[in-house]
Amino acid sequence: MKFALMVPFLLLGLGLHIDVRAMPIIIKYSHVVADVTPKGQAAIKFKELAEKKLAGKVQIQVFPNSQLFGDDKEMQALLLGDVQIIAPSLSKFDQYTHQLQIFDLPFLFDNMAAVERFQASPHGQSLLTSLSTKGIYGFGYLQNGMKQLSANTPLYRPQDAKGLTFRIQSSDVLDAQFRAVGAKPKKIPFSEAYLAMKTRLVDGAENPWSNIYSQHFHEVQPYIMDSNHGVLAYMVIGNAKWWNALPPDIQKGLSEAMAESIRFGNQVAHDEEATFRSHVMAQKHVHVLPLNADQLQLWRTAMQPVWKKFEQDIGQDLIQAALQANR
Ligand code: SIN
Repeated sequence: MKFALMVPFLLLGLGLHIDVRAMPIIIKYSHVVADVTPKGQAAIKFKELAEKKLAGKVQIQVFPNSQLFGDDKEMQALLLGDVQIIAPSLSKFDQYTHQLQIFDLPFLFDNMAAVERFQASPHGQSLLTSLSTKGIYGFGYLQNGMKQLSANTPLYRPQDAKGLTFRIQSSDVLDAQFRAVGAKPKKIPFSEAYLAMKTRLVDGAENPWSNIYSQHFHEVQPYIMDSNHGVLAYMVIGNAKWWNALPPDIQKGLSEAMAESIRFGNQVAHDEEATFRSHVMAQKHVHVLPLNADQLQLWRTAMQPVWKKFEQDIGQDLIQAALQANR
């Protein structure tokens, strides 16, 4: 028996009484990015709000930067009950559902506003609840931003990526996306991405501005293209068994705190994306390269076959609903 679990018995043995109900419920919220990012700030806000609303009843422990679990372990840890809340990228659910792969289809969404409209639609909301049969409770969607290609060399056209190795998240769609341009994708946990770029295990990557800046990817990827070819967004999730067993007043307080913290994080994602980009641009030896409409069209065309490859798994109706959100 772990020492912490033995404490009440030891105290009883000493004739001291403790009321276990008076002890706060400890809730671990683990994620893999820096505190300054939209997800990092949302997690801190959740702690503030939940501990205020449920004073003395809950204690939220936030673990950023893969301190507790990396993205290769966090989902399993959640299902085992070793952590209660995580917020994985939507690209990391392949093992649990194919429908969330929609968020990885290249050039599907015009911008983050379209992503948010789709997530708020009945289709998007049904995806949020679809994982309950897998023991996962979906609190809500959280945004980061549009992804930008980066590399050791400029990538103006898809041919420029041919033969290069790219770090990707654990997503089969992203794997297919880079294969479509003749590149070699490599699935690497986020916490190992910087080293992979520095040691030239990979030549390139794709990330939103907040992750590029906060992980210092610009130090090891001198060329960053304004490609906006895909999105990085998250689902904040909890262990469903743990969630369903919580008392109603705790569930209510946590739900409210979570909804507010997600709204806050999404506002940060919206308001600070340009700031993160300008911080990166201000760094020495970094070239932020705009891509013109013709160049973007070449990328779009080269990556388009990926849609066909995954449309059956994802569902045509879902893809159509996502396209509607662009209007
Ligand atoms: C994250 O933002 O949570 C990490 C995304 C990645 O693995 O690239």
